[in-house]
Amino acid sequence: MDKLRIVGGRPLHGSIAVSGAKNAALPELCAALLTAEPVELRNVPRLRDVATMRKLLDNMGVQAETHGERGGFTLQAPTSLLPEAPYDLVKTMRASVLVLGPLLARFGRAKVSLPGGCAIGSRPVDQHIKGLQAMGAEIVVEHGYMVAQLPAGQTRLKGARITTDMVTVTGTENFMMAATLADGETILENAAQEPEITDLAEMLIKMGARIEGHGTSRIRIQGVERLHGCEHAVVADRIEAGTFLCAVAATGGDVTLQHARGDHLDAVIDKLRDAGVTVEDVTEGLRVVSSGAAALKAQTFRTTEYPGFPTDMQAQFMALNAVAHGASTVTETIFENRFMHVQELQRLGASIRIDGRVAVVEGVPRLSGATVMATDLRASASLVIAGLVAEGETVVDRIYHLDRGYDQMELKLRALGADIERIQ
Ligand code: EPZ
Repeated sequence: MDKLRIVGGRPLHGSIAVSGAKNAALPELCAALLTAEPVELRNVPRLRDVATMRKLLDNMGVQAETHGERGGFTLQAPTSLLPEAPYDLVKTMRASVLVLGPLLARFGRAKVSLPGGCAIGSRPVDQHIKGLQAMGAEIVVEHGYMVAQLPAGQTRLKGARITTDMVTVTGTENFMMAATLADGETILENAAQEPEITDLAEMLIKMGARIEGHGTSRIRIQGVERLHGCEHAVVADRIEAGTFLCAVAATGGDVTLQHARGDHLDAVIDKLRDAGVTVEDVTEGLRVVSSGAAALKAQTFRTTEYPGFPTDMQAQFMALNAVAHGASTVTETIFENRFMHVQELQRLGASIRIDGRVAVVEGVPRLSGATVMATDLRASASLVIAGLVAEGETVVDRIYHLDRGYDQMELKLRALGADIERIQ
């Protein structure tokens, strides 16, 4: 099992490229199911979750051809495809649920394993089922699978108005993809507004879909008979960019993040500026300058749906608060168990107290290196940031969690001057 060994205390300098967004690439891979024509995706990040999704599509019979240039490949979903997603693949990645909408829209049936929970919460998919049933799908849950089909005699889903009980990112993506081929108009009344939704919509529009309102809380889709192939470059990963912003803020230094988009990170950048970090838009992307955590003021924040402070940045910013000046409170409103990084940060000397959904953080003058264990994707990133500033050596174990969502993070950090290496 791979580990990362980090010796803290080094500032970061230089320029690195931010990869394509995991949470855009995953739905966009599924969008290839909506047409029999070739779909070319570029700037796809090299991640475990992307490899898992490709295995899932391959298992159905989707042909994929990798071409050399920057993380690109072409997918083709033939009409004679097996519309099923088995438990052994789905259990490792809940985003597999994103095949449900496209399979129903194009093939009229699907058998998709329930994802099961994960470290950060139970993460049900009841809203996905509810929305697709509103579009006419008959879905039963049996033996751990969602078995979905259209009513006898129907060849297409039908447009519907969908209001979910809460804002759901992958729910919005499932409904949007399903609606592109439905009969009539679909309106998503409380849609998620993440930039990854907008990027997916732009790809679907290139395929011939009729979508408007993407990026707002109300999305309207007019169904069409069929979609054609397209070529699309995955948008830059705002969470990877935000993670590096927090790393440089903590260690101190001056780094340029190529392709990063400040307009996708307003809530995080506002908090970093309030803390005393310089973040500016430059032609290559974003430039971040900091004299290190000792000069920074800890920031209180609460996670909410986009454009609010992203839950996927909560653990990373908490690591920064742990070594900045003063007390701060971190409130996690999206997931019920997304504080798994806290006890590991405490092993490094952080002073954090949890009270339900609120963590109270007291900044400490220094952390001391130790062996810690990654528990989920963003918790791993938080421990790496803490290790970069802790005195002495930190070993982060179980970094397969990190590899799910970060494209060669340790190589990028080494390029910036960090003393970090992967050990088996
Ligand atoms: C997406 O997960 C992201 N994953 C997550 O990123 C991200 O943390 C999350 O959105 C919130 O921004 C991908 O895009 C692949 P939700 P998703 O449906 O869609 C509840 C990362 O680190 N809910 O928006 O699964 C749910 O339990 C990952 O990259 C239901 O109750 O999240 C949660 O409390 C982690 N029933 C809330 O809604 C449902 O049917 C928001 O979940 C669906 C969701």
